[in-house]
Amino acid sequence: MKRIQDTELSGKRVFFRVDFNVPLDEFQNITDDIRIRSVLPTLIYALDHHAKLIIASHLGRPKGKAKAEFSLSHVVKRLGRLLQKDVRMATDCVGDDVKKLISEMKDGDVILLENVRFHSEEEKNEDAFAKELASLCDVYVNDAFAVSHRANASVSAITKYAPVSAAGFLLQKELDYFKKAMTEPQRPLVAIVGGAKVSGKLGALENMMQHVDKFIIGGAMANTFLKSMGYALGKSKVEDDLVEVAGNIIKKAAEKGTKFYLPVDAVVATAIDAKAEIKKVPIQEIPSEWMVTDIGPATSLLYSEALYDAKTIVWNGPMGVFEIDAFSRGTMAMVESVAGSYALSIVGGGDTDVALHKAGETDRITYISTGGGAFLELLEGKTLPGVAALEAADGK
Ligand code: 3PG
Repeated sequence: MKRIQDTELSGKRVFFRVDFNVPLDEFQNITDDIRIRSVLPTLIYALDHHAKLIIASHLGRPKGKAKAEFSLSHVVKRLGRLLQKDVRMATDCVGDDVKKLISEMKDGDVILLENVRFHSEEEKNEDAFAKELASLCDVYVNDAFAVSHRANASVSAITKYAPVSAAGFLLQKELDYFKKAMTEPQRPLVAIVGGAKVSGKLGALENMMQHVDKFIIGGAMANTFLKSMGYALGKSKVEDDLVEVAGNIIKKAAEKGTKFYLPVDAVVATAIDAKAEIKKVPIQEIPSEWMVTDIGPATSLLYSEALYDAKTIVWNGPMGVFEIDAFSRGTMAMVESVAGSYALSIVGGGDTDVALHKAGETDRITYISTGGGAFLELLEGKTLPGVAALEAADGK
């Protein structure tokens, strides 16, 4: 895969596919700009090398229609502030107006194209659309790790038509950290897997079984594993159709000698509601009308001990309904254990980064991925279409 630093940029029109799919509040203010900040090294590098910057992204899921709420005009001001440059906003991402705007660019100018998903061809990975996007540039750079699991025209098909295609620094960093953690880890390698559903994590659990020394399981998905062991979980969320599969995963881990940790106690409540009655109980004593909302304090202690000798930690998914303070202690305790460890720690997906921000512990984590779905697909052992496209284009 060609890298941006191996590519001649001076005087060139460089098309950057980034992921500016940032959260917005009801007034369209950006509530977290980490995805914009994360690509600044790439954009500044290109400015330092006298390129013309044409930046493209999606925002939300407008489903092929131009909708004001999904306009990248909500992002352009912040991008300009962070780059300390005037950034021109294009009214579209293809067409004559865009071509004209680009033809007038000088070295060091920056243009932000309008949402590529305003065209349905983007998500269909259509060749003609990809060709049109590619015709805007001399060099294509993918620095959109978080959307590289989507075979979209500006992520995938575009590399067939761009004269040169390369990976930006963010994409390189994401893949490098992942490799360090999963394929050449310092051991013990511990995977912490949480979140609501086993179904969403099955592929990741199966793939990680090849690599990890310990699994630590939390969140509502732990309930399905506990049920397979015969525990009664009251009104807790359980994926009944996956109980047998969960049981087989535990069995496989035992056969392989992979340690498999499950909660020994829980915070339970009468409802998933901040005002609900709550209590702490051993897993054996979940009342029939109550539901599990978080791991309990004994589990937090156990998990912290299990992490004590870890040299590499990969974490995806919270331990409970951490958005509600009363159910957040387990996830916050996990943040403390991971942040306080001496391990190389990589966190990604499933709102786990949100928990880290909430705890104010982002600085003590080795690497926080910008990817949600993309990070999960790496955990599943898949090659991301955006990465495959860059690899296929190498040598051009
Ligand atoms: C994300 O936020 O995970 C990426 O931007 C991809 O968005 P999508 O799930 O709408 O494709």
